[in-house]
Amino acid sequence: MPTAFDHLHTPALTLRRLRLADAPTIFERYARDPAVTRYISWPPHRSLAETTDFLERVGRAAAKGRGHAYAILPAGEAALCGAIGYDLHGPKITVGYVLARSHWGQGLASAALGALTGWALAQPELWRVEALCHPDNRGSLAVMGKCGFLQEGLLRREAIFPNLSPEPQDCLILAKTR
Ligand SMILES: CC(C)(COP(=O)(O)OP(=O)(O)OC[C@H]1O[C@@H](n2cnc3c(N)ncnc32)[C@H](O)[C@@H]1OP(=O)(O)O)[C@@H](O)C(=O)NCCC(=O)NCCS
Repeated sequence: MPTAFDHLHTPALTLRRLRLADAPTIFERYARDPAVTRYISWPPHRSLAETTDFLERVGRAAAKGRGHAYAILPAGEAALCGAIGYDLHGPKITVGYVLARSHWGQGLASAALGALTGWALAQPELWRVEALCHPDNRGSLAVMGKCGFLQEGLLRREAIFPNLSPEPQDCLILAKTR
């Protein structure tokens, strides 16, 4: 079975597996920030326990080979500033990423997504890297455009964004393939 790595290094950053000990940094740096969670699928964490629960779910998914998640460590910094992860669905992965506001606008999300996508499409078993994105999330759309993802369509009423509305919202679907 393919499909995970422990570390990926680029000049801009390192990706390494998330671990339980990351909970305080994740909670403090971004998981409790409503500006960060606006367009993602979970509400801001209200306590460190919620971040710990999240990391326990990450660990279980990895143990079952369903998905893997990584800390983003910018070059020259010891602490993580975000995370990127994916779920496996046969020949494709679905990706998601999040960055602390303190680190927006430095090219880090593009570097992280570029590294993960480059790794994925070099695996013989993987052919497609896919992501869903709220149509108003201009930052994330720009990141994917920069990484060579193409917009394939609009999925109507596809997903709930709990920080925007209780009603399911339309989602853009984007992918990069080989
Ligand atoms: C979206 C997000 C990941 C962008 O991270 P980032 O590291 O700041 O992005 P980058 O620096 O790699 O930017 C890549 C491009 O996007 C553009 N961009 C970034 N944020 C933008 C925004 N809010 N609006 C418009 N363009 C934006 C940058 O200008 C850059 O373009 P350029 O290279 O032509 O200058 C970050 O804002 C974030 O974590 N948001 C909250 C979580 C989230 O929405 N995750 C994605 C869910 S689909």
